[in-house]
Amino acid sequence: MGEILGIDIGGTGMKAALVDTDRGVFLKEKIKYATPRPSTPENVSRVMRQLIKDFDFEGKRFGCGFPSIIKNNICYSAANIDKSWLKINLYEYFLERTGSQIVFTNDADAAAIAEMRFGRGKDRKGTVILLTLGTGIGSGIFLDGKLLPNSEFGHLLYKKSIFEHYASNGARKKKDLSWSEWGKELNVYLNHIDHIISPDLIILGGGVSKHFAKYEDYIDLNTELVSAAMGNDAGIIGAAILAEEKFSSSNQ
Ligand code: BGC
Repeated sequence: MGEILGIDIGGTGMKAALVDTDRGVFLKEKIKYATPRPSTPENVSRVMRQLIKDFDFEGKRFGCGFPSIIKNNICYSAANIDKSWLKINLYEYFLERTGSQIVFTNDADAAAIAEMRFGRGKDRKGTVILLTLGTGIGSGIFLDGKLLPNSEFGHLLYKKSIFEHYASNGARKKKDLSWSEWGKELNVYLNHIDHIISPDLIILGGGVSKHFAKYEDYIDLNTELVSAAMGNDAGIIGAAILAEEKFSSSNQ
């Protein structure tokens, strides 16, 4: 059985759990701390060390979802985290500060991997996109089960800004929008996504996916739309799955 720690760093919370990667479930209750403000590398690594200690994972290898574009371990965007993360090599930075080898993946890609394997995307072919509606909007897009990494469909331009500033759960809270007001913004966004990529299935993830019934009536879409089965846990599970796969292939 694959048993490994998964951590999900978001704009608002840092969550961790011990994951059974064969079944896509937690083996111990998850632990969550607020993302420190400012979310500088130094502050975030302090919370990271605490989470590692909470799970007795000091010096062990594990996986982590991080809210930015990540190529060859380097952070290339910082929409909802401190700008001082830009250009940092995440693997080396955390290896030095925690002693752990950590596999970093974009947080939405990690969530999408888990939802495709164990959730609503299971056995689905064609173009499937998972949109995580959290502090920002993240995306994970698949063609016949294969991920195209680092897509940023929350950052499509809209009203001289980006959709993330209108249709994320963070925008709903910040502007104190009613479900109907927010649902209408989300409807514009989902129709735009539908128009530009013609997906076969759109999955809504993030914490707000569990409130789907409160806003689904405001959405009028020609494409199949479902709420994620794994909600906010998907990011932790996907990060763990990807780390386990990477470590087991490098051990062969
Ligand atoms: C970031 C993405 C991230 C998403 C969700 C966006 O602002 O650019 O990389 O996946 O927020 O955290």
